[in-house]
Amino acid sequence: AVRRAKALQITLAIIKPDAVAHPLISEAIHQKILDQQFIVVRSKELIWRRDDSERFYAEHKGRFFYQRLVEFMSSGPMRAYILARENAISHWRELMGPTKTYRARYLSPESIRGKYGLTDTRNTTHGSDSLDSAEREIAFFFPEFNKKCWYEMDEPLIR
Ligand code: TYD
Ligand code: MG
Repeated sequence: AVRRAKALQITLAIIKPDAVAHPLISEAIHQKILDQQFIVVRSKELIWRRDDSERFYAEHKGRFFYQRLVEFMSSGPMRAYILARENAISHWRELMGPTKTYRARYLSPESIRGKYGLTDTRNTTHGSDSLDSAEREIAFFFPEFNKKCWYEMDEPLIR
């Protein structure tokens, strides 16, 4: 009998420049992705120009941290992933922990940000926060990625 495929969801994850700058930390985060049974659908390392950073974080324009965020995210190499899993969006956000480092340290010391976050801006990782943002952010990094085609192609593998 064929077992039914689990419902896979895809999300966009980033290992930010602060973590990529430390090979042991980016390696630990990558290992966590594998340990948690995510499928790495796509990944690439890249450096943003300042305007990429501004466009990606446009929703935060005007917030007190915006300039600092935009500057930081275009300061060096980052690694972007499309990750697939059951409840990928919420599971990845759970693994990251709270945005702000002091909250992550106290509330979720074993989370990625709790362990490795340096400041509220240099907080190691990004994860999409909804189905809509996952769709937008995946297209931002991987414009050639065709979700429908991927699901059809890999269907036999995920049963
Ligand atoms: P936000 O979308 O609120 O957090 P998350 O990354 O958890 O979805 O903010 C986006 C990024 O902006 C956050 O990862 C780091 C930066 N940021 C700061 O630098 N200071 C802050 O006080 C906040 C809220 C965010
Ligand atoms: Mg966010």
